[in-house]
Amino acid sequence: MADSNGAQSIGKSGYIFDPYALDFAENPYPTYQWMRDEAPVYHQPEMDFWMLSRYEDVWQAHRDAKTYSSKAGVQIERATEAGNHLLGMDAPKHNWAKAMMTKVFSSERMQALDGFIRARAASLLDAAYDKHGPDGEFDMVSQFSVKLPLAVISELLGIPEALRQPIHDLSNAFISREYGTDVSHQMEAMGKLWGIYFQLTQERRQAPKDDPISLLIAVEETDENGLVHKIADEEIAHRFLEMGFAGHETVAKAIPNGAMALERFPDQKAKIAADLSVMPRVVQEILRFDPPSQLQGRLTTRDVTLHGVTIPADARVMLATGGATRDPRAFPNPDQFDFERDSDTRTVFFGYGVHKCLGIHLAQLEIAIAFQELYARYPGWKVFPDRTTRVALSNVRGVATLPMVLGKRA
Ligand code: HEM
Repeated sequence: MADSNGAQSIGKSGYIFDPYALDFAENPYPTYQWMRDEAPVYHQPEMDFWMLSRYEDVWQAHRDAKTYSSKAGVQIERATEAGNHLLGMDAPKHNWAKAMMTKVFSSERMQALDGFIRARAASLLDAAYDKHGPDGEFDMVSQFSVKLPLAVISELLGIPEALRQPIHDLSNAFISREYGTDVSHQMEAMGKLWGIYFQLTQERRQAPKDDPISLLIAVEETDENGLVHKIADEEIAHRFLEMGFAGHETVAKAIPNGAMALERFPDQKAKIAADLSVMPRVVQEILRFDPPSQLQGRLTTRDVTLHGVTIPADARVMLATGGATRDPRAFPNPDQFDFERDSDTRTVFFGYGVHKCLGIHLAQLEIAIAFQELYARYPGWKVFPDRTTRVALSNVRGVATLPMVLGKRA
């Protein structure tokens, strides 16, 4: 790389945006600001990708799946096997494959997990308190924010009790990476997880139960040409793998991102303590202020001209959600955390259009309950944003560790 993103050099002569630079992982917002103002259609010459960072552009691109294809996956690097996942599929297959998942993983099924999430959040926090007391420091990520969504996703997917620990350990191996570490052990963990889901699917095909895998095996979807589709066992394993990661890693990042934002805006932190019913709005602001899913990759299917610049067909384009949600053109005073702001209701932090997140209801519920339980049980909670470690992902932003103390029990 000719130069890095360092706040000193952004936009200076010779500057080339490095999506893997540590200072970008630590604070991407100055880079996005420069792009929105000076290079709204930025081209990275060394890795040959383009980046859109203004709210309106990101929003429009999400809505136009014909022009912005998902078939090369969401990462910066083009993936060849992306089509195994909803995230990497285009129409027409995406239409019926997603419809099947939506039938089984309905918002009602997700809302029904309220009690489970609440009990699990409370027991994880109480376990940390019993171990570390009111003043003892512990890692919020490994002891709370990773464990909660892992338990919830296992419950949602209907994973049998005996498999939850191995799935938990393998998912943890996948998620826990610090900046700059290699990814081979993560690939190995992913292969093993796929194997577990595949075997489970085959068992359910022989002996169906009243669980989501059996429901997916049975579900049928008719496409616009009248063709009836069913889902193969290999595909079910891929869908479960995708649900596991999409539903785990994002929530595990959103909770610490939110805790750090509240620590940095003490007035907001105190205001919430006075009235926990504001939590749904707080969750929206947490996801706007520091979205865990920051970049969504696309592939252009035709030439696109925006702001006087032409992106050619078959080009890699990153939709910078993290840039869009801090765009002052959509959010006045965007770097201020303010859960009472008059939000633009067109959210992009869950994507939009055909690939809009399948787990929206569950994600919002989990984050809201995590903070409700935290405030209600340990009102003096505190995190230390200056002593974190970061993860090295191209499209997920969050910390690998975050020190926390709980304070006295309420
Ligand atoms: C705070 C938490 C979450 C955030 C910020 C988030 C964000 C996103 C975003 C931005 C997309 C669209 C990606 C694109 O357009 O390329 C997406 C898709 C998806 N999400 Fe989430 N997500 C979260 C939680 C969840 C949960 C809990 C689940 C599962 C229970 C889930 C399952 C999925 C799936 C399966 C897709 C693919 C949908 C498709 O391609 O049609 N997500 N998510």
